Amino acid sequence: MTRLCVFASGSGSNFEAIAEGCRSGAIADSEVVLCVCDKAGAYVLERAARYGVETLVFNPKEYGSKRDFEKMIADKMDSLGVDLVCLAGYMRIIGDELLERYGGKIVNIHPALLPAFPGAHGIQDAFNYGVKVYGVTIHYVDATLDGGKIISQVAVPYEGDDIEELEAMIHAAEHKLYVETINKLRNR
Ligand code: GRF
Repeated sequence: MTRLCVFASGSGSNFEAIAEGCRSGAIADSEVVLCVCDKAGAYVLERAARYGVETLVFNPKEYGSKRDFEKMIADKMDSLGVDLVCLAGYMRIIGDELLERYGGKIVNIHPALLPAFPGAHGIQDAFNYGVKVYGVTIHYVDATLDGGKIISQVAVPYEGDDIEELEAMIHAAEHKLYVETINKLRNR
């Protein structure tokens, strides 16, 4: 079994896609063993409860430094034997402690065709730019914002002017791509 850990700060629709992928077998021989969340009350925690996934909720302000809270997270992941870390709407840059201990095993999903439109508002930024082919990227994580070698991408063509419709299309593409990509990565 490949043991996955998902980091999220918000709604957790990607968390759910991954958990459901493990449950259904679309991601073969894998399970989500931990959901790490830096926001008490985030909706992802309800989704985790529904899937019976253990959660690690923490308040970064209660720690002296990023290294301190990342040490706590990495210790927990060590104890659970985590093989792959999937960032899914975790709104923080990964720091040295996690990169030193889990480097090469951390991947992130971004709702744009990187290296275009990095940052927290990738969809809105691309929309404002007048993009006609949007997309989703999954990449290895390094110390930079949405940097790191690209693993997979999918294009989402859209020429309309309804950003909510666009967002729904991009999120659906994310969920599919994350499931497919994790399924490939676990065989590497
Ligand atoms: C996704 O669009 C992801 O690409 C971005 O944050 C969003 C998280 O959505 N990094 P959700 O919490 O998985 O619904």
